[in-house]
Amino acid sequence: MSNSEPVKATGLHVGEASPGVAKVDPILKASNVTRKFGGLTAVNVEHVEIPRGAITALIGPNGAGKTTFFNLLTGFDSPDTGTMEFNGKSLSGMRSHQIAKLGQVRTFQLTKALSLLTVLENMKLGATDQAGEKILGSLIPQIWRKQEAEIEKRAEELLRRFKLYEKKEDFAASLSGGQRKLLEMARALMTNPTLVMLDEPMAGVNPALTESLLEHVLDLKKEGMTVLFVEHDMHMVRHIADWVIVMAEGEIVAEGPPDQVMKEQAVIDAYLGSHQETDLGVVTGRIDIIDDGEKK
Ligand SMILES: Nc1ncnc2c1ncn2[C@@H]1O[C@H](COP(=O)(O)OP(=O)(O)OP(=O)(O)O)[C@@H](O)[C@H]1O
Ligand SMILES: [Mg+2]
Repeated sequence: MSNSEPVKATGLHVGEASPGVAKVDPILKASNVTRKFGGLTAVNVEHVEIPRGAITALIGPNGAGKTTFFNLLTGFDSPDTGTMEFNGKSLSGMRSHQIAKLGQVRTFQLTKALSLLTVLENMKLGATDQAGEKILGSLIPQIWRKQEAEIEKRAEELLRRFKLYEKKEDFAASLSGGQRKLLEMARALMTNPTLVMLDEPMAGVNPALTESLLEHVLDLKKEGMTVLFVEHDMHMVRHIADWVIVMAEGEIVAEGPPDQVMKEQAVIDAYLGSHQETDLGVVTGRIDIIDDGEKK
């Protein structure tokens, strides 16, 4: 761990940075992806590519469609139209466990740690539920035994790395919000993924754990993984993202390196529109524009 500025990946795109810009080495591609809920178009992505081996932040106001887009990309929901490719392989019709098996895993905005299982049991399930095996079956010793030692070893290594080893026999319910986020990230790594998607990894994490979460995300990149994360904290986005993609009302409205993209009018407009609690001084780089007026 160090406090120095992380090294940013550059030269990720081809040509001018604009919505839908091609990447030099994309790991994930989506085209014409739409998802409607009744009359509401939650996602309407014409084209987007996620650069391999880098950290990409997906930002945008509440309700922009970020989580819905994550759900579509990871097979937890199906698009109404469009195509998605991971590593050149079509994701059409694939279920979440099949996509996880390809190496694309995610965590949830609201953590899904099973509170009445221990930390270690949660980790072990990470090896199975992402791999699509039946949870109950995996807890039956005969079925389980074969891989158990290996899985337990991997789980303990990860728990050490995420400083949760001392808590391995504790119920997940006893963990703090931040520790649950760490557990979820650790659990996602049980299957040795190549793309890790994090939905608001910092939400509800107290400042004492923020630094360590940041470091863990940076470590994923160091180990060669690709990270795509949703986050409202612009300090974090600016600090660790190599690339930023901005969604508003279901569409990609801007993308580029963090310092550039946060100055774009479309980004400022998106946040001024419906995200008043965001520190616009950080978004725009002009602290003194904040007009913290009452809602009219
Ligand atoms: N299952 C659903 N049924 C109906 N509407 C939904 C459903 N899921 C999401 N929506 C709507 O789709 C839109 C996009 O929601 P989504 O959760 O994807 O936004 P988000 O960008 O993740 O927001 P936040 O930053 O608040 O997490 C919102 O208007 C939301 O109310
Ligand atoms: Mg969301």
